[in-house]
Order: sequence, then structure tokens, then C-alpha cells
Amino acid sequence: MSPSESLIFPAAIYRERRSELAKRIRAQSGGGIVILTTAQEQFRNRDSDFPYRHDSDFFYLTGFEEPGATLVLQVDRHSAIAHLFCRPKDPEREIWDGMRLGPEAAPEYLGVEHAYPNTELDHELPKLLSDQTALYVRLASSAETDRRLRHWIDRVRGQARAGVNAPTEFRDIEALVHEMRLFKEPSEIETMRRAAAISAKAHLRAMRTCRPGQREYHIEAELLHAFRHSGAQSVAYNSIVAAGANACILHYRASAAELKSGDLCLIDAGCELDGYASDITRTFPINGKFSGPQRALYDITLAAQEAAVAATKPGNTFMQPHDAAVQVLTQGLLDEKLLSLHQLGSVDNAIETGAYRRFYMHRTSHWLGMDVHDVGSYREPGSSDANEKPWRTLQANMVLTIEPGLYIRPADDVSEAFWNIGIRIEDDAVVTDSGCELISRGVPVNADEIEAVMRAG
Ligand code: GLY
Ligand code: MN
Ligand code: MN
Repeated sequence: MSPSESLIFPAAIYRERRSELAKRIRAQSGGGIVILTTAQEQFRNRDSDFPYRHDSDFFYLTGFEEPGATLVLQVDRHSAIAHLFCRPKDPEREIWDGMRLGPEAAPEYLGVEHAYPNTELDHELPKLLSDQTALYVRLASSAETDRRLRHWIDRVRGQARAGVNAPTEFRDIEALVHEMRLFKEPSEIETMRRAAAISAKAHLRAMRTCRPGQREYHIEAELLHAFRHSGAQSVAYNSIVAAGANACILHYRASAAELKSGDLCLIDAGCELDGYASDITRTFPINGKFSGPQRALYDITLAAQEAAVAATKPGNTFMQPHDAAVQVLTQGLLDEKLLSLHQLGSVDNAIETGAYRRFYMHRTSHWLGMDVHDVGSYREPGSSDANEKPWRTLQANMVLTIEPGLYIRPADDVSEAFWNIGIRIEDDAVVTDSGCELISRGVPVNADEIEAVMRAG
């Protein structure tokens, strides 16, 4: 980021979040001090680094995208003061790496109260930590963070005889910030809507351009083209483009396998736009027409997704959409004789014994936000006993994926007609006051509609 660009959201939004966080800190410990550092730059190989991606929690509270920054938030009974440590201006480095905001411009630009060059951290932190009781940090996050923290605290402890107290309570900052991040603000939902629309367009492009004889990487290139061409900064995660049997490998990547007529292609790909992820999966026939067995399993998966969508509403728990999907998938597996009714006796027993997991081994949903597997507890906050906590109740403005699938590996007791079929259908849902809104349906999901899109090319 440079002062010539703008923050993703107005500085007031980040200030509002810091103020909300301060409120929660007061409620928990009366006050305290937060230290939160952004992500480090990562080298890929000699002299070449990975594209930089800020830390999501840090970004949520500051809107600041540069590396080398630390936020210190000083919370007392009446005020919350933000101190930002950032890279100092450096004309020589800026020629090579681009503009730096610098501490002089930071207060006005970011709306923080104070800013310092990050070279001052070791000097300023012991002062800021003096006489603070509760210290909010990422607990046990990295050896380097722990080492620096210990250094600062040792410096404060060294002043004990001068009457200075060092922090005595170490608290987890992530739990508080992640609970806030679980509920999306209107501007966040709007950004996620745009991210999902770009990803849907990319999936459409992939369906339209897919031809037998291409390779998985050709499709990956189409996706990347569509993401970047629409202004998305990055993929939200590495794209999966899986031809034929590869679709049964859950964490497959786009590789070089040939797209063969008669096989399915599974694409799980989403862009990151302005720091927010989208996450879409579609599965389609490479030659444009589902075979009988492919269509049968596809329609079961889609019906499972529809059941899960219907169960995604406020008041239901996080697990209810999954349970609804499992019910439909398991019944479908029995209907298609992939599971034996004779052996299992009933759909309920096939679920209770976990027999269906052979073909459906992952959960139906995860939170979605700045991180593709976004933060926020999947259990209700409250009870201190993790085993006692019920699954999270869905509430308006939570965002989650709904992604049932079926994965049929070759086996003696499985009809050969189904071998190597892997199907997943994934959409992004915003919980509303009465149900949920799917924001990723800019690409069709119905089998007939997919075939029509592919025919039209
Ligand atoms: N693309 C990652 C996931 O679907 O969870
Ligand atoms: Mn997902
Ligand atoms: Mn996905």
C-alpha cells in the first residue's frame, strides 16, 4: 500500500473495530495491552519471495497491508490508543520495493493515534508494557515472537525496584478477534459478494473453454486469467483442477493430467479480492454430457446440497446442514447400491455406523471470510469444557461454504460403472435473518444447465 492508493475500507471502520475489541477487553480484564504483528515476508528460493500476504487479524484491525508492522493497542477504562510500528521511509529501498507509508503519514492515513518506525520496537515496547496487568498476544505462535516478547518483558521486570510492574496475565488475543471476525459487516459481505461473482465467472469460463485433450493446467490458466482480469489480487487457495480419478484425491492440485472425453472434471477454485476469499467447486463432464452413472451421483450430490442449504438458517446449529447432506447422500448411496441395504438394514444405521464415510469423508461446511477456512469457534462460546459445548448456532451475517461430495474409488464391492467418479458442489452462503443467500451462483449448478452452458461454448 502507498498513500496514493486507498485503504480497502475507510479508516473509520478499522477504528470502530479497535474500539469494539477494546470494549471486549474491558469486559474480560478491565483493560490491557494488545501486541499484534503482521505476517512475515517468506522467501521462496534464493532472492525470490512469495507474493506478500498480510496477516488477517492484523489487517482486520488496521487495514494496513505492508510487511514489518506491529499494532499495539493500549486499552484502559476510558480509552483505546493505537500505536503502529511500521517500516521507516527509505528512499533507496523504495526504489527497489515500492513506496512505504512510513510513520509520519500513518496516523492520518490509518487513523491510528501514534506511529513509530519499527526499529523503535525494542525501545518503545518496554515503556508501553509498564504497569499493564493483562497482555493480549497470540499465545505460543512463533519462537521469534515469544523471544521478542520475553525480551520486552524482561526489560520491564528489570525496573521492578523503580516500582514498575510487569504484566502478570497473558491472554489470547485471537479468541476475541476471531469472534468478531465470525460476524461479517455489510462492507465485508459486499466484498465477498464481488469475490464470489468473479470466481463464478472464472468457473463459467473454465466450463466454456474445456475440451477433451486439454490438460488440467490449461483450465487452471483460464481460472487465473479470469481472476486477475477481474481485478482479484490472488487465488484464495491453490486451485484444484482434477480430471477423472484425480477428483477422488481431496487435496489434489491442478497438474498435467489429460482431460479425457467420458470423464468428469472437478474444479475447486476461488479468488481473493481485497483480502476476502471465495471458495467454489463445480464438477462437469469433459465432453459436455454426463453419463448415466455420473448424472445419478451428480443429482444425489446436488440434492444433498439443496437439503444443506435449506438447513442453513438462523437458529439451526452449524452441524445441521451437514446432517441434512449426509442423510440425502446416504440414501442415494443405498439407492444406487453403493451401500448395501441388505447389510446395513436402514439409512439411519448406515449413518450411525459411519458406513457412508467411505464415499463422503469430509464435513459439509467451514466458515469463510478473510481466510478460506476462516476463523471463529465452531462451538458455542461459554462453557469452559470443550466437550460440553454445543455446536455453534447459526446467526445472520455468518458466512460459510456448503460443499457436499461423493468420491468413489475402485473396489471389488463397487459397481465398475461408478469407479473413479469424484463429485463436489460448493457454494458460499451468507446467513440471513430467515435463511441463507448463496452468493456464488453466478455459475450454474444444475446438470442440465451445465450441459447447456458447455454446448453453447
Ligand atoms: N477449497 C478448500 C475447501 O473447499 O475447503
Ligand atoms: Mn471449502
Ligand atoms: Mn473449495
